[in-house]
Amino acid sequence: MATASRTELPFHLQGNYAPVPDEVDARELPVTGAVPQELAGRFLRNGPNPHHGGSAHWFLGDGMLHGLELGDGRARTYRNRYVQTKLLRGEGTFIDDQGRVDLRVDAANTHVVGHAGRILALVENGFPYEVTPELDTVGWFDFDGRLTTAMTAHPKLDPATGELHFFGYGFMAPYLTYHVADRDGTLVRSEPISVPGPTMIHDFNLTEHHVIFMDLPIVFDPDLAARGGFPYRWDDAYGARLGVMPRGGGDADVRWFDVEPCYVFHALNAYEQDGSVVLDVVRYPRLWDRSNEDFAPAYLTRWTVDLGAGTVKEEQLDDRPIEFPRVDPRVVGRPHRYGYALQAPGGIGDEHATLVKYDQASGDAEVHDFGAGREPGEPVFVPRATGSAEDDGWVLTYVYDAARDTSDFVILDAADFTAPRRAAVALPQRVPFGFHGSWIPDRV
Ligand SMILES: [Fe+2]
Repeated sequence: MATASRTELPFHLQGNYAPVPDEVDARELPVTGAVPQELAGRFLRNGPNPHHGGSAHWFLGDGMLHGLELGDGRARTYRNRYVQTKLLRGEGTFIDDQGRVDLRVDAANTHVVGHAGRILALVENGFPYEVTPELDTVGWFDFDGRLTTAMTAHPKLDPATGELHFFGYGFMAPYLTYHVADRDGTLVRSEPISVPGPTMIHDFNLTEHHVIFMDLPIVFDPDLAARGGFPYRWDDAYGARLGVMPRGGGDADVRWFDVEPCYVFHALNAYEQDGSVVLDVVRYPRLWDRSNEDFAPAYLTRWTVDLGAGTVKEEQLDDRPIEFPRVDPRVVGRPHRYGYALQAPGGIGDEHATLVKYDQASGDAEVHDFGAGREPGEPVFVPRATGSAEDDGWVLTYVYDAARDTSDFVILDAADFTAPRRAAVALPQRVPFGFHGSWIPDRV
């Protein structure tokens, strides 16, 4: 957190990080510019919105979904709803009287994705919650009883097979488990993966033939847990490793490669090239070594794991501090040309965030600046059509306007990234800065 606190409140309860109190419905919202006719579906975004006004850490607030429905060039509806979790309803605790973890009790506050006809609100310490397109909660979802661990908020949907590859981590053994759901949404594989300790594993990587785990030195701390805060911190002694596993393999097939200690919340993408596995990630040189409420700047960094030579090369690709990296969903696990991210010069919480578009082919980057006091969220790319070129489509995000203390939904032309916004939809309330979202087309 780079900006000085205006009050004694932690940053995640101030300004546009603060929760909104109401669940709101609006129809036929005012549009400036033109909503592309091709956009028929819903832009859903998840984030923490502590029900009782506060939470001990940014990551712990109750999940609230904000959804905007587009179609026929119109902004048909806006709606925001809490995910009706057992945590929100006060039905049980994450750890029960016998010390057992209840994976149904979580905040479901981190991401929302569509797979096999279901929409899932995800967090990383418990089960997903299924919601309807109208954001009503169906209930916790454990893949018909087959899922026995937590589920990451960052599953990877293989664009070629339709499979959902994901993992779960926990502070009790097994610390890490790899899972695959087939294209119909049936959980077909669960493979425990051996790691030395209980680390926080937020994201992972998928390529055409491999998955890659990141076992990095943010480690569970029972003392922090006993104090009721977020129970993970930096550990100088833990080391840092990447685990490369063939997609059809198991724990014994994982090859571990040491890397310089660091942390990665988010991978931009991963792919295979010339006998190497290439990971483009947003890397924090250090994180949470004093307080787990500090977010230092992080940078786009490439790990090239040479599977023949058994080496890892690390190179920082850019000196802009970024977060929330995204690629075209059609290139997940394959070489990408373009990447999109939120640029926050002072790290998370910075007051002049912009969006950046990277071009791997040229090595250039373009910046879309929404103007003073206007702060975007995560950029979500939507292709114009199934077969269109990689940046032929739109970038969607919510933008907070501090002067009006409200938010707009904004559409940028991805191929003309610095041009004025294609369309803006005025929302009836602000959308707090949150985490991740997805475009859910009507046809799915
Ligand atoms: Fe995330």
